[in-house]
Amino acid sequence: MREIQIDLAVILKNYRKLKELASGSLVMAVVKANAYGHGMHEVAEALDDAGVDYLGVADLNEALELRMAGIKTNILCWILSPEDDFELAVSQNIELGVSSLEVLEGLPEGAKVHLKVDTGLGRNGFTQGDFGKALEFLAESKLYPEGLFSHLSNASEGDDLAQLELFEKANVMALQKGVNFKLRHLAASAATLKHPQMHFDMVRCGIAVYGLSPFEDEPVDPGLLQPAMRVVANVVNVKRVPKGQGVSYGYRYVTKMETTLVLVPFGYAEGMPRISENHEVLIQGKLYPVVGRVAMDQFIVDVSDAKIRIGDEVVIFGDGQKGEPTAQSLGESSGSINYEVVTRIGGRAPRVYKI
Ligand SMILES: Cc1ncc(COP(=O)(O)O)c(C=O)c1O
Repeated sequence: MREIQIDLAVILKNYRKLKELASGSLVMAVVKANAYGHGMHEVAEALDDAGVDYLGVADLNEALELRMAGIKTNILCWILSPEDDFELAVSQNIELGVSSLEVLEGLPEGAKVHLKVDTGLGRNGFTQGDFGKALEFLAESKLYPEGLFSHLSNASEGDDLAQLELFEKANVMALQKGVNFKLRHLAASAATLKHPQMHFDMVRCGIAVYGLSPFEDEPVDPGLLQPAMRVVANVVNVKRVPKGQGVSYGYRYVTKMETTLVLVPFGYAEGMPRISENHEVLIQGKLYPVVGRVAMDQFIVDVSDAKIRIGDEVVIFGDGQKGEPTAQSLGESSGSINYEVVTRIGGRAPRVYKI
């Protein structure tokens, strides 16, 4: 009735392409938030078997889950709280992205630390002031200085270049304070694709691994990356209605003439944005608009006079080939972006894997 189809071979292919692009730098595949909705265990296992350099997650719990699932490769997590169990992290060989003195000073001997410096995003990461203190602590400690990293704002080319400059200064400062980090990493997908001078020793790619564009106004070159997620459902009801028929809650759509409405069992519980009226879905090779409010379990499509039958496949989004809508187009219909669309997809729809 509804299915999230994930092509793991496509994910591996995307990873290999990113590896080529990074020309010599390590490539971390970011699998946080259930691998951006693609299924963390399945994606991580496929990448681990294929020899991925690093996996990246936000929480320590996600990292521990990966280890419990038998993942052997390097794992870095970077949203930490002083309450996290760092003894367990060290025993599981999980590397820690540290942004505060509170966390740094509480780490047990032998912890592998990636210091995060805020070069301008204004989120996590040491401020310039605390960064010096963190370096001094690290230089005197029995912690491993595994990495120095930062994250770009992508606000503009100029802003990213200014962050690059600060990142380079932070590296010089670290060396002056006697801390020689093994890996320096700055680029996520956007800078991996656009700024080779930002690749350093490793790049951290999330959205690009799943074949989606990090740029809101620019699709990725399909020769380089391909979307790995396709979301489909089958029509469960078809009805001919007269002109003037109100559709779904609040009657935000009223038919202008006699027409055929079809019901698709995929609602906001599955991650279909409630406001995605006018997103176009593909049925029998043609695009038709979603009409009226998306409900919890279902939405309606106006197919005009097309002969659509119960059971016909509806492509909610796919890889954009053969007229398929994309996660990007679904994002646009709801004032959002492909990242949010794929990460929220789920609910009662099972993920079905192809390798
Ligand atoms: C620190 C860090 N690195 C890398 C990424 C991956 O970003 P992207 O999906 O744009 O490649 C994220 C995602 O939010 C992140 O927080």
